[in-house]
Amino acid sequence: MSASALTPVVRLAPAKINLTLSVVGRRPDGFHDLHSVFVPLAFGDRLSLAPAGGTSDRLHVAGGDAGPLTDNLVLRAIAAARAAVGQGPGRPPTPPLAARLEKRIPIAAGLGGGSSDAAAALDGALEAWGTDLDPERKRQVAASLGSDVPFFLAGAPALIEGRGERVTVLQGLRAGTHPPGVLLVTPDIRVSTPEVFALYVASGARGDGAIRTTSMHLADELRRGLTGRDLVARTAVLASANDLLPIAAALVPAIVPLRRALARLLGRPIALSGSGPTLWTLYASEGEAQAAAEVVRDAVGSGHVPTPGAAAPTVTATTIPIASSAPAGAGEASKATDEAGQAAPDHLPTRPIAIQSRREP
Ligand code: C5P
Repeated sequence: MSASALTPVVRLAPAKINLTLSVVGRRPDGFHDLHSVFVPLAFGDRLSLAPAGGTSDRLHVAGGDAGPLTDNLVLRAIAAARAAVGQGPGRPPTPPLAARLEKRIPIAAGLGGGSSDAAAALDGALEAWGTDLDPERKRQVAASLGSDVPFFLAGAPALIEGRGERVTVLQGLRAGTHPPGVLLVTPDIRVSTPEVFALYVASGARGDGAIRTTSMHLADELRRGLTGRDLVARTAVLASANDLLPIAAALVPAIVPLRRALARLLGRPIALSGSGPTLWTLYASEGEAQAAAEVVRDAVGSGHVPTPGAAAPTVTATTIPIASSAPAGAGEASKATDEAGQAAPDHLPTRPIAIQSRREP
């Protein structure tokens, strides 16, 4: 083990929003093929990992509810990383790890918190042991942990296809432009993604062609790079570009009056992230999003906005960070050419990172 393994490894595990979410169709394995543009946010959990004594990995969760520890994806990710490294002569030692997770992302909220923690744990465990996996193998392990985990391994704006295993890193927002503000409103209701997809199937829903077109168009624009201002100008079209919105609204009807009240209060279109229940909208700056967050908190306090669930919604203002250097994981992808046949810059792969879709038993 290298000397660096003796110092704790710290990883920030960002939340995400889906700027678009098109359900392309159902797969033979029961999952759904998606076409979805994901962006990481400048807001998330913090995970630290350090080799520890004892015989098993440990997890301490601080701040916020992360659900039952046994179900926690951090411990599953460390175990999957250990299994992938393997044991025996010639293999690096993979001693038990003590993990500490500072939880800020609301769970079962459509923000990808558990998946982001899993990607951070997979990558961080390998570093704590002073080793690494072949990038393709690492992406396979990520996909085995959950559909959204490969995206978080890449850690950059991306087009997500297949079940989540095909990650095409996009340029995203152009360097030098102003990062847009994001307002997140998460009602105190957990939404189960499997239940949303089950209702999607039961209702006989079909992906909306207009949403698919919006998603393809946005992916093309972000592949070339958009300014923050241009992205904010697209908020209205993005706010209706989620095939799971009517399904989540049917499952949790309280989302509908909340979304309507926020749209009226803020004078802006309101979108749903993933399978919900987090609602989001975009602003020209983080400062404007913070001001809007205050308006929402005041309206919640005075009863002008319905507050489904047992507690007040979690209201967060953040930004979509602008990559100043190569996105994490992008260097692992093969160099490709863009549609015009021009060589893409090294930091900007345009070919999907295809990995085998497989779930461990
Ligand atoms: O992979 P993950 O555990 O995050 O998926 C949760 C559930 O969501 C799956 O069991 C499946 O029912 C549904 N799902 C799906 N298609 C996807 C992703 C998730 O049907 N692309």
